[in-house]
Amino acid sequence: MEMLMVDCCVNGPVQFPEGLPDLLICCSFEDYKLTTEWLLNQTSHRPKVTVICGSGLGLLADGATNKQTFRYQDIPNFPVSTAPGHEGCLVFGLIEDTPCVFMQGHFHLYEGYSLCQVTFPIRIFKLMGVEYVLVTNASGGICPDFKVGDIMIIKDHINLPGFAGQHPLCGPNDERFGIRFPCMSDAYCKDLRRLALDVGSELGCSDFIREGVYCMVSGPNFETIAEARMLLILGCDSVGMSAVPEVTVAKHCGLRVLGLSLITNMVSLDYSREEKANHEEVLQISKMRAEVLQKLVSALISRCQQQNINTN
Ligand code: HPA
Repeated sequence: MEMLMVDCCVNGPVQFPEGLPDLLICCSFEDYKLTTEWLLNQTSHRPKVTVICGSGLGLLADGATNKQTFRYQDIPNFPVSTAPGHEGCLVFGLIEDTPCVFMQGHFHLYEGYSLCQVTFPIRIFKLMGVEYVLVTNASGGICPDFKVGDIMIIKDHINLPGFAGQHPLCGPNDERFGIRFPCMSDAYCKDLRRLALDVGSELGCSDFIREGVYCMVSGPNFETIAEARMLLILGCDSVGMSAVPEVTVAKHCGLRVLGLSLITNMVSLDYSREEKANHEEVLQISKMRAEVLQKLVSALISRCQQQNINTN
């Protein structure tokens, strides 16, 4: 079989300064290239859209045809999902005529992965020719107007681990992917957000579609009441343990991003509240809304190709 090679616009590998902690240099351009070439040689699919399926949302790939599936453990350099509700498969397929790749399961800081590992697949997709990333996840509602089962279109985020130096772009910058100081004020594409609102309304989902600010925490524990109150004061509408590293790396390398966060529980803001957050509830609500989310995601993918929302 003919070997396909990945193009790169700058010659030679990035020179990493000596003495950098391993955590910061876990993936070299050669690592990304090797995995990309392996996938390009194993499949004839050339995806334009990536869908990252959040907890219990692996079913989002069900609407695709002509599927080809790889287990993460069989893909060179790929991390392996350890979180419950994350299958650990990469599914290539078509939504109508649009070639897509679905990540059934993604990676989290709380699993012990570095942010370089968490975001590894994003750069692989970029090198494969992907232009759009649709991130889905589960989050706890903080905005008092939200209800369990709402789908929040992410308007903006707060990268709380990033404030503490846990940031996927820390370390030497590889200009082949993007610039040293990327702009994040438009991380979530305005046109895609508008399209999501339109498509949601056409599908009769307006009653439970919201827009809001998502905050990432590292987890794995759910928030204390004092933490939840702090997040409310900071302007967060929901809180979860994923998405922001992938979105940051996607924006850095010029991909268009849409984020959909399913409100699987309401975060306790009150000491008198008896309900306790738990992962079973997260998975149960994800299952309940998976079908609607799948319709929404499929319609969005077809429409975003038709409308040809431009990439940077
Ligand atoms: N907090 C953090 N992450 C979450 C939550 C939550 O309440 N629900 C789903 N993911």
